[in-house]
Amino acid sequence: MPLSHRSTLTQFLIEERRRFPGASGDFNALILDVAIACKAIARAVALGELGGAMGKHAEEEGGSINVQGETQQKLDVLSNEVFIRRTEWAGNLAGMASEEMEQPYQIPGQYPRGKYLLVFDPLDGSSNIDVNVSVGSIFSVLRVQPEVQDSGRDVTEADFLQPGHRQVAAGYALYGPTTMLVLTVGDGVNGFTLDPNLGEFMLTHPRMRIPTDTQEFAINASNSRFWEAPVKRYVDECLAGRTGPRGKDFNTRWIASMVAEAHRILLRGGVFLYPRDSKDPSKPGRLRLLYEANPVGFIMEQAGGRASTGHTPMLEVQPSALHQRIGLVFGSKNEVERIERYHAEPVRVELDNPLFAERSLFRATAGALM
Ligand code: AHG
Ligand code: MN
Ligand code: MN
Repeated sequence: MPLSHRSTLTQFLIEERRRFPGASGDFNALILDVAIACKAIARAVALGELGGAMGKHAEEEGGSINVQGETQQKLDVLSNEVFIRRTEWAGNLAGMASEEMEQPYQIPGQYPRGKYLLVFDPLDGSSNIDVNVSVGSIFSVLRVQPEVQDSGRDVTEADFLQPGHRQVAAGYALYGPTTMLVLTVGDGVNGFTLDPNLGEFMLTHPRMRIPTDTQEFAINASNSRFWEAPVKRYVDECLAGRTGPRGKDFNTRWIASMVAEAHRILLRGGVFLYPRDSKDPSKPGRLRLLYEANPVGFIMEQAGGRASTGHTPMLEVQPSALHQRIGLVFGSKNEVERIERYHAEPVRVELDNPLFAERSLFRATAGALM
């Protein structure tokens, strides 16, 4: 096999760091530990039934329920453990937070504490594991307040409640036909493919850019009766195709694995919506702000795309809780901006016209103007 001319992830990080002569190397070390965690999870996922880690997380019959009220798979728990064990020891982190843990994780006393916070969904799309469809891991790196590092105190939920524009880095690993790591450190987005022979992530997709327009959208249409008017309008217009207001036909996609959808959109454009809806008033949206919407938002914006709640740019949202859920729209810039415009426009209420009342397209929805 000829020697590859491609950079490894390690080489890439070292060369990036040269732009910051004062940098300590802690950040690079953290990202490399995260990459090892992702390689370990990739192996566990790839072994499938052979790895003995399929199915629900025991707790005897029904499996255990995580803080989200969702049944944990064995691989959710294992992946969470892998993230912790691979990153806690090195002295780069002040603390962690994960979809699978109700409270922030404290770095054990035997290890030094560092200046970063790691926030992650260790296995995204885990309902796809049993059926051998792509899943992923997604993570965000934040800086901790200097006071936390100076005092060495335990981290609290409040330390993590930073808006997405404060992220130092964000990335995901996709466990698909190939394993890939996609990373932004705030200077564009780069994609690495795992070379299984070398066990190294190789730079295969430098400077990824999202096409600004698209003819593909992804939304779970089974929720359509719960959507707000602007979302319904957007989807109806796409479905109307060439003879509708958009003047072109659209395709739909739904993998039920946000990381896989984000990856498709990065490579060929598209828009993803999991909007706020009225399905369950206690859940304003399905996806979580700190470890799903913010990292994907940072990656999208760094690749020339856009991410939004529909009302507010995602990276501007001030989080209020560690496991906060939020409406999420991301992908090709022009499309996301269109959806934001629909949310900003006054809702057209034509209730006295029975035709329009029936077409819920134009019906006002509680809170639609928020
Ligand atoms: P997780 O497996 O981490 O709970 O996340 C699953 C998420 C996301 O990846 C996906 O887009 C969405 O849930 C799927 O939702 P539906 O079940 O409504 O399709
Ligand atoms: Mn998830
Ligand atoms: Mn998950």
